Amino acid sequence: MLSNIFAISALLCSTGVEPSNIVITSDTYDWAAGYVEGYTIHESCNATQTSMLSRALGELGVLATHAKEHLLYHGNQSEIVLKYFGGGPTAEAVGWYERIVRANKSGVLFRCDDPDLNCETQDSWGGHWRGENATLETVICDLSFIERYPLEAMCGFGFTVASSPSNFYFASDLMHRVLHVPAISQGVVEHFAEDYSEVLALSDESPEHALRDSDTLQYFALEAYAYDVAVPGEGCPGEPPVETTSTVEAASAAETTSEAETTSEAETTSEAETTSEAETTSEAVSCHTHDDGEVHCV
Ligand SMILES: *[C@@H]1O[C@H](CO)[C@@H](O)[C@H](O)[C@H]1NC(C)=O
Ligand SMILES: *[C@@H]1O[C@H](CO)[C@@H](O)[C@H](O)[C@H]1NC(C)=O
Ligand SMILES: *[C@@H]1O[C@H](CO)[C@@H](O)[C@H](O)[C@H]1NC(C)=O
Ligand SMILES: *[C@@H]1O[C@H](CO)[C@@H](O)[C@H](O)[C@H]1NC(C)=O
Ligand SMILES: [Zn+2]
Repeated sequence: MLSNIFAISALLCSTGVEPSNIVITSDTYDWAAGYVEGYTIHESCNATQTSMLSRALGELGVLATHAKEHLLYHGNQSEIVLKYFGGGPTAEAVGWYERIVRANKSGVLFRCDDPDLNCETQDSWGGHWRGENATLETVICDLSFIERYPLEAMCGFGFTVASSPSNFYFASDLMHRVLHVPAISQGVVEHFAEDYSEVLALSDESPEHALRDSDTLQYFALEAYAYDVAVPGEGCPGEPPVETTSTVEAASAAETTSEAETTSEAETTSEAETTSEAETTSEAVSCHTHDDGEVHCV
């Protein structure tokens, strides 16, 4: 910016503008000074990791932008919107998707070294938010580069929204990770639901939490992209995996669980904001390890 200011001053001088006019042309004020639109990839990522991560971050932008546009085009009324957000006003969710893409990312960093030694010591972690060690930073472990699918593989390789982990795609995995960064989520987006069935229960029982639930924002984005873009008019919503118990029993168990966990998470929001966590890459098991030692697996 300094060089711009000098360039403008030099131009004004050379065209004979009076010094008093220079004061009036205070358009040297740049309201956007310091704004950084993109996510920064740390030098610890080698050429391969940098190119794969920048591609996935681009896909995150595509995924979030489509989710936002589906909400803007359909209000609160499409089947997919009703399914995930319960039919109430959706402006808050529009805002989170927009922040993922357009919020000031100054200092928001992805790194490929392992400063907290979690990639090395925690078997099967795909990465983690650095939490209180560095709230703007996310570590991506080697496994993410090997296991996450590109967005163009949407609805392929057996993926369905209901039955597959929400981190099946690198883009949706990154959506979860950036929503842990307070510079994006403003400390408001949280885990109120832990999986697909809890996300559906949240939409019914507590739509105001669905609008700021990390999993809801991921599942809605995946389903809208699958249905609108990848396989138009069809998508791949799928069915939740069937447990050994009967469907009715499983459903009521899921409802009870989600209600209990939703309540307890809501009560400890301020604590949750300072916890850190990481997710496994296993498709069958997804765990959150909070830094009080508590591990949530689904
Ligand atoms: C963007 O964030 C940085 C770091 O917090 C801050 O210094 C800068 O003023 C912000 N830019 C704008 C336009 O607010
Ligand atoms: C970058 O690092 C990854 C993981 O260690 C490795 O598999 C890959 O070969 C490296 N790429 C280059 C160009 O060195
Ligand atoms: C959903 O949108 C319709 C029209 O856009 C509006 O009349 C209705 O109040 C909305 N419902 C809720 C619960 O916000
Ligand atoms: C933060 O750093 C400490 C000390 O190195 C480490 O024990 C802890 O696991 C780190 N936190 C995260 C979220 O990695
Ligand atoms: Zn999380």
